[in-house]
Amino acid sequence: MEKFIAENKERFIGELIDLLKIPSVSTDAKHKPDVIKTAEFVKEKLLSAGADVVEICETAGLPIVYGEKIIDPSLPTVLVYGHYDVQPADPLELWNSPPFEPVIKDEKIYARGACDDKGQMYMHVKAFETMMATGKLTCNVKFMIEGEEEIGSPNLEIYVRENQDKLKADVILISDTGMLSNDTPSITTGLRGLSYVEVEVTGPKRDLHSGLYGGGVANPINVLCEMIASLKDENNKITVAGFYDKVVELSEEERAAMNAAPFNIEDFKADTGVPEVAGEKGYTTLEHTSIRPTLDVNGIWGGYMEEGAKTVIASKAYAKISMRLVPDQNPDEITELFQKHFESIAPSTVTVKVNPHHGGRPVVTPTDSVEYQAASKAYEATFGKKPVPMRGGGSIPIVAMFKELLGLDSVLMGFGLDTDAIHSPNEHFGIFNFMKGIETIPLFYQNYAELKK
Ligand code: BES
Ligand code: MN
Ligand code: MN
Repeated sequence: MEKFIAENKERFIGELIDLLKIPSVSTDAKHKPDVIKTAEFVKEKLLSAGADVVEICETAGLPIVYGEKIIDPSLPTVLVYGHYDVQPADPLELWNSPPFEPVIKDEKIYARGACDDKGQMYMHVKAFETMMATGKLTCNVKFMIEGEEEIGSPNLEIYVRENQDKLKADVILISDTGMLSNDTPSITTGLRGLSYVEVEVTGPKRDLHSGLYGGGVANPINVLCEMIASLKDENNKITVAGFYDKVVELSEEERAAMNAAPFNIEDFKADTGVPEVAGEKGYTTLEHTSIRPTLDVNGIWGGYMEEGAKTVIASKAYAKISMRLVPDQNPDEITELFQKHFESIAPSTVTVKVNPHHGGRPVVTPTDSVEYQAASKAYEATFGKKPVPMRGGGSIPIVAMFKELLGLDSVLMGFGLDTDAIHSPNEHFGIFNFMKGIETIPLFYQNYAELKK
């Protein structure tokens, strides 16, 4: 297999570059033809790699690519999940090269989706091709690659519900997370959930002259800022009543184990450019970004935002607020708690509305399972180092849904780095990481088949 991968390296990279050229931005309706083109690209590559059947499954939104190779029904079946849609590329002016014209610089491929998740998803297609070409496929494999992950997978749940038989498998394999560093591989053993709301604060019924009326009416933008400021206390604890009620605290041993991971705060500061880190009192940065819940404003607007000055008291102010959740917080409950709290703190000078967006539940995956062992041994073989189990801070809401609907655990074999700038300008993916993924994934199949016997 090593030889096959080495001989085909340039072609694999070339194909990924072609895939990255298609702007499959799921949130933007004008890119729908590109999204469909991307689905077709994935279908063609699965077929040429040796899948028996590949179909493009229509949904009420964007299609899901399903493919399979069943070699022997008595062998275990791996269900690979990934997404071929990407985040919007803006702000475009901050990219050093156009987001959909991939370039290789310093052994990294720069393009929107290079890491999240086209590059990581495509490692599975090429790993599959490698196993087929070398006669080393040891498990049945099913692929389910969706085009709506970045907009909250609104149609995947329906698809999974309707296709439970077709999706029967023993384990779900996903590369849509990261690892600690290229020297220290890690396996993600949990993801945070998400509750996302948009709030609207209304003061006067129309925009007012800030001289004629200023001082005599509440300014909704000022009020919104005060309300947001009160959502955290002096220790950076979230003040929403009941917010922490269901948070599972880790034991001191678990916390010590996770804080033993090689994590450098200076590197973290350099990567983000912050002069100092922040966060909930009593926890470390590693903990802030993985096992603790958050509340963040993702966008805030209202009033006059064009050039120059306009003297106005706006009628309305808005903000988009995300809360990252940890076990056992439930997104619907948290959204409701937030709504009640936000309404309760609104002064009588304004009215407020809270509009919920998509959410998702947090997950923790077992580390004593066959699939964890199979993944761990695979990384150990290719990196020469046992991977560290690490809880992740991001969200892949469908992982909890897979467990509920299909009864399946997922193994999160990520090969990206936090510094790959996913969702940001200049997203990239190391060629080292792409190739390591293609080398490591087949070993997972090998170990899994072996350990499942
Ligand atoms: N692949 C990411 C999630 C991720 C990245 C998890 C790195 C762990 C490490 C995924 O595509 C993503 O961006 N998820 C969204 C949630 C979704 C509902 C839009 C997120 O985490 O913001
Ligand atoms: Mn992703
Ligand atoms: Mn993403």
